[in-house]
Amino acid sequence: VRRVRVDLGPRSYTVAVGAGILDGLGAAVARLGPGRRALVVADAAVAATYGAAARQSLEGAGLTAALATLPSGEASKTLGETARLYDAALDAGLDRRSWIVAVGGGVTGDVAGFAAATFLRGVPFVQVPTTLLAQVDASVGGKVAVDHPRGKNLIGAFHQPSLVWADVATLDTLPAGELRSGLAEAVKHGVLADAGYLAMLRRRAAVLLAGDREALARVVAGSVRIKAAVVAADEREEGGPRSHLNLGHTVGHALEAALDFGGLRHGEAVAIGMVAAGRLALGRGLWSEAWQAELVDLLGRLGLPTAIPAVSAARIMGALKLDKKSREGRVRWVLPVRPGAVTLCDAVEPAEVGRLLLSMGALP
Ligand SMILES: NC(=O)c1ccc[n+]([C@@H]2O[C@H](COP(=O)([O-])OP(=O)(O)OC[C@H]3O[C@@H](n4cnc5c(N)ncnc54)[C@H](O)[C@@H]3O)[C@@H](O)[C@H]2O)c1
Ligand SMILES: [Zn+2]
Repeated sequence: VRRVRVDLGPRSYTVAVGAGILDGLGAAVARLGPGRRALVVADAAVAATYGAAARQSLEGAGLTAALATLPSGEASKTLGETARLYDAALDAGLDRRSWIVAVGGGVTGDVAGFAAATFLRGVPFVQVPTTLLAQVDASVGGKVAVDHPRGKNLIGAFHQPSLVWADVATLDTLPAGELRSGLAEAVKHGVLADAGYLAMLRRRAAVLLAGDREALARVVAGSVRIKAAVVAADEREEGGPRSHLNLGHTVGHALEAALDFGGLRHGEAVAIGMVAAGRLALGRGLWSEAWQAELVDLLGRLGLPTAIPAVSAARIMGALKLDKKSREGRVRWVLPVRPGAVTLCDAVEPAEVGRLLLSMGALP
């Protein structure tokens, strides 16, 4: 088992990464605190398998655990689903020391985490991520949220987990497209913080796509190490490096929104968004043609898209205007400056973005 510490003073926690470690969850939770009740919130696709196994492990360690199921998909990130979880928590008799345990991908972690942040003004929370995207990224850092009809993640909180339990064996059942989506976030971590990690992803692209557990565990631990350092330096995204994690997400989110969140997986959109950020950096003399070519090549090796699908540039531009990360109407771009380093830039004119989108395949 690899253990990565997220250093946040009194809110510090461990991310455990391994293959076949789900059985050990209950003992680890029991060691952490006095709470003896838990509500396991599981994605419907894994409730009968990993959700039930998590519950059994908790009960085996002497806790009383109930299981609530969350329908799969982004459409579950609502206040309505959160309210259902409050009901389940009350039915299960949870008190302020009880645990909410999320078993699933980023959707489950975000909704269960938001319920944990708000139920009884906050109860302890454990993440058991079962998608690669959630293991390398979403389960660490304490951002929890639901969506608003007008935008993603608009209603949320910072609520750090007390433990993240990442079992790469759960990825055996993950569809190949979801695995690739998670690898996009790993590439993002390499570009923003660690050239060596990026090189490792390139060398191991084929084994990673084949689902090799040892290679996946290395990637999860490697990405979590990078994200943990960023989060430790700027827990609440207040002017420090946490905003760097938005690399690729400006165009990425706009693309997802322009496609009504149905056309591309999150990681696929981020892959295209990183290519776009690279092109903007190139145009400013910040980044080289060779590095851009390497980035495009790596994303291609990982089976990720690098061009914009059939959607109009105007639609994407419309979505960009609503970017949550914009300040007083100006979008803040994260641009690469070399493998392992990025910078922030808010001096990108809409006309330049429009031309870029068209050159990357967007429809006029
Ligand atoms: N909080 C954060 O810091 C953060 C960071 C990145 C993304 N996110 C959020 O995460 C969400 C995306 O997460 P995701 O990509 O994990 O999507 P997801 O949670 O929707 O999971 C993807 C799909 O995989 C299925 N699934 C999950 N585990 C499985 C398994 N082991 N085997 C088979 N199928 C499985 C799910 O049912 C779903 O259909 C978005 O809502 C995004 O906003 C949050
Ligand atoms: Zn992301």
